[in-house]
Amino acid sequence: MRLNPNPLISAGQLQARLPALAEEISRGAAGTPLVVLVVLKGAVIFASDLVRALRVETELEFARARSYRGCESQGLVELTVLPETPLRGRHVLIVEDILDTGRTSVALTDWVRGQGAASVRLCALLDKPSRRATAIAADYTGFVIDDHFVVGYGLDYDEGYRHLPAIHVLEP
Ligand code: XMP
Ligand code: MG
Repeated sequence: MRLNPNPLISAGQLQARLPALAEEISRGAAGTPLVVLVVLKGAVIFASDLVRALRVETELEFARARSYRGCESQGLVELTVLPETPLRGRHVLIVEDILDTGRTSVALTDWVRGQGAASVRLCALLDKPSRRATAIAADYTGFVIDDHFVVGYGLDYDEGYRHLPAIHVLEP
């Protein structure tokens, strides 16, 4: 695998998208506090920029879902870390790095609904609609991309590249 040195989405483009995305989410929340459920590890960097741009009160919680080894989707999603705070009656915003097949987001939204949350919304930094294998759609999307394996700004390949400030394509 080789990192394409030319960013698919530059650091400047990422930062420029944040205010509008945060504004959409803030308007959607209409003043009600949100539990921001950050999906580890890929969404951590995006979420830390996003919450600072929101105009609503937030609580940060974390969840971990595994469906990927290297570049291959396993199809099976395991929730290995879940929030400890009760979600009953809370308005939850799930923050994902990338919406691919959608299996991770389906598993998480189902789990959150099962906890009795008042509402569940999904924000994905990136969306690869061509790969979707489920009926889910993000309520808030940063960027729609073609079917590339991408890394950087939190996204990894076998734990590498998360620190890159831009999104790059990893080429075979
Ligand atoms: P699903 O298929 O459940 O996948 O929507 C979501 C998770 O798969 C990982 N994923 C990627 N990770 N570059 C990555 O670094 C990619 O291009 C990519 N596509 C999917 C990611 O962990 C995401 O949360
Ligand atoms: Mg990963």
